[in-house]
Amino acid sequence: MNGIVAIDGPAASGKSTVARRVALALDALYVDSGAVYRGITWAALERGVDVYDSEAVMRMLGLLSMRFSACDGAVGFTVDGAAPGNAIRTHAVNHAVSPIAAMPGVRIQVVTWLREMVALGPLVMEGRDIGTAVFPDTPHKFYLDALPEERARRRHREMAESQSPLDEAAVGASLKRRDLIDSSRKMDPLQVAPNAHRIDSTSMCADDVVAAVLAAIEGEG
Ligand code: DC
Repeated sequence: MNGIVAIDGPAASGKSTVARRVALALDALYVDSGAVYRGITWAALERGVDVYDSEAVMRMLGLLSMRFSACDGAVGFTVDGAAPGNAIRTHAVNHAVSPIAAMPGVRIQVVTWLREMVALGPLVMEGRDIGTAVFPDTPHKFYLDALPEERARRRHREMAESQSPLDEAAVGASLKRRDLIDSSRKMDPLQVAPNAHRIDSTSMCADDVVAAVLAAIEGEG
């Protein structure tokens, strides 16, 4: 495979696990585009910027230095020289990231950065708008989905491993809120790209989803 694989879908649909494994199989770099929106959100919270004030967020973004590089099979980044690591996955960031990702100025900047990553090598990129807005010309587009109850169960299991105090119903409510903001925003909302392979992973294991994605890519040449 030479180029870009786009994997979109709602939160906790299994995109990260699948995209990482597909990247490994194809010897391509894995890109978590949501992490970039999370990095900006983390920086805003750290600096006390109002995450609902788009002018303030854009002012901060103009002063921020985000640098991207390939490491261990994935594209990572630093914000003003620091790697935020797991600090981009806190409840505070989960809550604030969808409003920030809905700001048109933020999206224009992030899409530019994501497109520039092609210089680093072949990419498997996961997100919400990769097949629709970032790389609409790639022939390899996938849309992963699963029933909301299954997504809440998976995310709760993941979070329980990091000793989250939230129960499954609260995790489900938080996912629902983010899905609603992500799919109803004006600019590049979450939607199925034309010609995307749609995969419902509710009753599939990750191995089966990865195999389905790789088979489709092989068929596309
Ligand atoms: O995949 P995630 O949960 O880490 O994404 C964090 C947020 O960023 C989520 O609200 C959706 C948004 N996002 C987006 O708007 N476009 C992308 N390509 C990736 C993520």
